[in-house]
Order: sequence, then C-alpha cells, then structure tokens
Amino acid sequence: MFISLQNNQTIILRKLDLQDTELLIAYWHGLSDETKKRFAPHVFDNQTIISLHKDVNYQGYIAQEAHTSAIIGYAIIKIGYLEHDKSRLEAYYLSLSNTTDCTFAPSVADAWHGSGLGTVLFNFVMNEAKDKGIKRVILWGGVQKSNMRAIRFYQKNGFRILGQFLYQGENYDMIKEI
Ligand SMILES: CC(C)(COP(=O)(O)OP(=O)(O)OC[C@H]1O[C@@H](n2cnc3c(N)ncnc32)[C@H](O)[C@@H]1OP(=O)(O)O)[C@@H](O)C(=O)NCCC(=O)NCCS
Repeated sequence: MFISLQNNQTIILRKLDLQDTELLIAYWHGLSDETKKRFAPHVFDNQTIISLHKDVNYQGYIAQEAHTSAIIGYAIIKIGYLEHDKSRLEAYYLSLSNTTDCTFAPSVADAWHGSGLGTVLFNFVMNEAKDKGIKRVILWGGVQKSNMRAIRFYQKNGFRILGQFLYQGENYDMIKEI
C-alpha cells in the first residue's frame, strides 16, 4: 500500500517478506543507540528473523521509502500474549486470549520520528490484526516510563495505562481495544 505523509514523502506499507531480511538487519544497524534501547522485541540476525517468519503467530510489517526502498519503519505483532508477560498482565485482572489478543512492538527510523509514520504504520497493522479476529492489543514488554515520545504516541492512538512495573527501570503496561 502506497501512502503520502504530511511531508509529501511517499512510503510503502506491507508485510515483511523473507527477502527483506538483509534490509531489515541494515535498518536495525542504522537505528541510534537511544532507539535500540527502546525497541528490542527480538534479536536482529538472519536466524531469528527467519524463524519468526516461519511461525504463524508472528507477523512483521515494514514501511519503506518509495524512491529508495530503504526500510524506515518496522513493527511486529504476536498473536496472543507473551508467556513472560502473562502473570504481570493477569495481575491487572485481564482475561488473556491467544486468539483475540495480540502483542505489538513498533519502531520508526530516527530521521522519521514525529513524521506521522508511526501512526500510519500502526493503523495499517491494526487493520490487518482486525482481519485476523484480533480485538485487543497489548504492548510488547510494556513501554519505558522515560520514553515520553512513545507514551504520547500510544495515548494519542487510544492506548490506556494498565499499571507499572520494574524491569531495567520503570515501565508501563498499556492496552487498547480495537
Ligand atoms: C514510538 C514511535 C514508533 C512513534 O512513531 P512516530 O513516527 O515518531 O510517531 P508519529 O509521528 O506518528 O507521532 C504521533 C504522536 O507521537 C507524539 N510525538 C511525536 N514526536 C514527539 C516528540 N518529539 N516528543 C513527544 N511526543 C512526540 C505526539 O503525540 C505525536 O502526535 P502529533 O502528530 O500530534 O505530533 C517512534 O517514535 C519510535 O520508533 N521510537 C523509538 C522506538 C520506540 O520507542 N518504540 C516503542 C517501544 S515501546
């Protein structure tokens, strides 16, 4: 899908393909240390990307700059919840589902932060998730309390805070019904 952002740049939104592996690894290496600290849902090597691609419960999505094909945004969803987040999420009295919940982690290349790209990528992924019968989206490992940009981004996109937890600093769990 082609989309024009407010800055008049045309981007492509689509599912990640196995052929994108090298481009995705290059995208990861190009992120600043600050962004890498905020976004670490999985390791960015060939083996991990291929095994996630083969697992029907995971789906990656990319945003590409139309004229260079460079990846400028990447998000991943897992159908259901993460096993290691389960007890923490259940402590909020959530009734978790491996069919109607999904777990979500977004990222945008540093030069594109605040451009509206995160929002169009999010909407694209959520439309796909709805088609899979997903009704609720949970943040992958929460969001760091110091990550103001992401927290504002999530709130603007309809997420609410469930509670907070300590893991390498303070974090919020956030959720949204879709
Ligand atoms: C979080 C992230 C995906 C959002 O994508 P984005 O393209 O920057 O977001 P958008 O441009 O769509 O911005 C949406 C909202 O985010 C907030 N936002 C954007 N830039 C901001 C800034 N510099 N400071 C504070 N809030 C900001 C605003 O509420 C903005 O709304 P606006 O359009 O009215 O300005 C992106 O910033 C990112 O990759 N951050 C690093 C990785 C990360 O933190 N991932 C999430 C881990 S939990």
